[in-house]
Amino acid sequence: MTAPVPVILDVDTGVDDACALLLAAMHPAVDLRAVTCVGGNASVDDVVGNTLKVLDTAGRGDVRVARGAASPLLEPVSHALHVHGDDGMADLGWPASSRRPDPRHAVELLRDLLGQAASGGPSDLITLVPLAPLTNIALLLRTYPAASAGLREIVFMGGAAHAGNATASAEFNVWHDPEAAAIVLEAAGELSIPVVMYGLDVFYDVVITRAQAFELMAVGGRGPAEPAGRLIDFQCGRFGTPHATIGDAGAVCAVIDRAGLSTTRLPVRVELAGAYSRGRTIVDRRDWSGDIAHDPHGVSPTSVEVALSLDAGRYADLWLRTVSCPPPLMVGRP
Ligand code: RIB
Ligand code: CA
Repeated sequence: MTAPVPVILDVDTGVDDACALLLAAMHPAVDLRAVTCVGGNASVDDVVGNTLKVLDTAGRGDVRVARGAASPLLEPVSHALHVHGDDGMADLGWPASSRRPDPRHAVELLRDLLGQAASGGPSDLITLVPLAPLTNIALLLRTYPAASAGLREIVFMGGAAHAGNATASAEFNVWHDPEAAAIVLEAAGELSIPVVMYGLDVFYDVVITRAQAFELMAVGGRGPAEPAGRLIDFQCGRFGTPHATIGDAGAVCAVIDRAGLSTTRLPVRVELAGAYSRGRTIVDRRDWSGDIAHDPHGVSPTSVEVALSLDAGRYADLWLRTVSCPPPLMVGRP
């Protein structure tokens, strides 16, 4: 069995961030080192509180949580409570955690953990999984570029090669802070950080049925199954659908089981100026081997692995099997 992959999540918990946190916290192939929080779906303070609750539910009170940016670099705050509920996490009434976040800002915690990873061997390098607006990540890469030496890769949920969701053009995480997304892509190119873009082209494909949610809810006990089922049931009820996506959790599935994801390496830019297209990820699918020298923009300097399809049943089963288990024994954890 290969060693668990060191992972840090950056979240705006969020119903589907909660689905991702449960998977990352409980799957044996993931060594969840920390979770950093940013304003997005909800206020950063609600995100911190929601994240601590979810980690408690998964039996992972050992995982550090840090508070990060409350608002985007330039854009005003624009939460998505109409999607995620008033508390940002389906208003399920989960008990508040007794834990406090790490005293460091998210960017400082990321700097410290990536610095430690850089001083170890290749197996210590960290997979950074942003599932939210990229404000913390942009601040990190511009403030502490040397920290990138501790990164194996960035697998981020965001963007889209085709249609948006926050607007006709833009996916919510990129739309919420377009400057941050542009900075992360530019810095990743400059710092040679491998990037996987898990965007809307696959985001909605991995679904759990309401019947499966009811089965999870029937498991009972104090483990994550019942809350996990309620997260799916909330979405089905909110949208009047017989199933709901695990959303961000699909990006964690891709970290655990990359063979289930199909990507193509493509140049990507972020539109910052368009009245109706601001925050759009412009994925260049043209054949650059031909003569398009007349394009005044040229090719984007940053190419990333863009997820264009996946094995949805494989990832749905991975998530279901993991959250159906009792919390991991805390034996041996610090
Ligand atoms: O567009 C979907 C993304 O926006 C997800 O990360 C969801 O949690 C919201 O943050
Ligand atoms: Ca999210």
